[in-house]
Amino acid sequence: MSAEKKKALFICLGNICRSPIAEGVFQKTVNDMNIGDQWEIDSAAIGSWHVGHSPDWRALDTMKKHGVPYDNCARQITTEDFNNYDFIFGMDETNMKDLNKRAPKGSKAKLLLFGDFDPQGDRIIRDPYYDSDSKGFEKCYQQSVRCSKGFLEHLQKS
Ligand code: 4NP
Repeated sequence: MSAEKKKALFICLGNICRSPIAEGVFQKTVNDMNIGDQWEIDSAAIGSWHVGHSPDWRALDTMKKHGVPYDNCARQITTEDFNNYDFIFGMDETNMKDLNKRAPKGSKAKLLLFGDFDPQGDRIIRDPYYDSDSKGFEKCYQQSVRCSKGFLEHLQKS
């Protein structure tokens, strides 16, 4: 395929819980559809607290349990990301407010709430970082599976 790759960036507050799961699941979804070579995919944080860190162990456990490979470390979003990526996905309304605030004028990326592509209409991927268990991570995984498929179907139709 000679067409330019489409580029998607997944964002959350810390880049150690939700956006790594969304990134890993989206990558696995396109790989399983044999269209992985058409995509460039990454994730990043709004904040800088966890830059260079691997995801939270509960995020890694959840991905492992579902056969989602993951080997990336946290980084913070940059101004260039807004002109490099075609799609930047936030996980909740606060992410969307922060993304809209940081986007340079006229930048290329479409800023999208990932949950808007959930056919079940569960629009917010809640932050599970302060939870005392892993249930929120499993829920984030399930939402990411539905939203990845939903977004790719949306792209095919548009
Ligand atoms: P995430 O979760 O945004 O899904 O990666 C968080 C991780 C860390 C923090 C907040 C949310 N923190 O404040 O350190």
